[in-house]
Amino acid sequence: MSLHNSLRVRGVGGTIQLAYRRVFNFGKTPPHILSRMLDLEKFDREHGVETAGLIELDRLRIDSPVKIHGTRYGGMAPWRMRELLSRIPGSLCGHTFIDIGSGKGAVLFQASAFPFRKIIGVEFSPELHAAALRNIHNFHSRTRKCHDIAAICGDGGAFEYPEGPWVLFFNSPFDVPVWRRAAENLARAKRGAGNSYLIYSNVGWLPEAAAFVHSLDFLKLVHEDDTSRIYEFVG
Ligand SMILES: C[S@@+](CC[C@H](N)C(=O)[O-])C[C@H]1O[C@@H](n2cnc3c(N)ncnc32)[C@H](O)[C@@H]1O
Repeated sequence: MSLHNSLRVRGVGGTIQLAYRRVFNFGKTPPHILSRMLDLEKFDREHGVETAGLIELDRLRIDSPVKIHGTRYGGMAPWRMRELLSRIPGSLCGHTFIDIGSGKGAVLFQASAFPFRKIIGVEFSPELHAAALRNIHNFHSRTRKCHDIAAICGDGGAFEYPEGPWVLFFNSPFDVPVWRRAAENLARAKRGAGNSYLIYSNVGWLPEAAAFVHSLDFLKLVHEDDTSRIYEFVG
């Protein structure tokens, strides 16, 4: 991120703090992960939650055959989520926001600054799910617009979608074998989902999964940048 953009999203204090952390990190953590961690730590302090940090799945007890296809926990940077959600056209008042692979819930709280009807997170790790429930209980924000946040513990590939319209968020949670089932569920549910969108983030992480999503005939690409794609449901 350029200095100008860092000043825009983090202010002078946050940019100086990040530069300091980078110098004393001695190259141990990649710069983009370090900046995301710092941004999430600040979000956590301001909102009474605990969502920062990276957790590899082999450190978690997950009793699911699809564990091998999942990606580690790491929360999205709040400014990035704001940017992506601001790109969804029209009013969000009637939409349900669903984060598949929601971990400790970072994105659920970030999305609550938008006027969604309801927010749902689906996470298959019982430990991360328990952290998300604690966070839902403790979360506070003066700019909160959605007060209905729920967390569900289960396989995101098997999730049965509620009535639309939706804004679905997938931060590269799993690879193609899980996506095949997720896509079948979406294809079945999309009939009631006019005016719905799917945000796919970190497209470079699991390229085959990103390509699989890109090939789904009921999704039309409406926005693309370095790391994320936004699709509209069609047909
Ligand atoms: C990169 S993290 C994203 C966390 C959150 N969505 C965010 O962007 O802040 C991916 C998450 O997906 C979860 N996950 C992986 N496979 C899953 C599956 N089949 N069902 C539900 N969650 C899954 C992981 O446990 C992890 O918490």
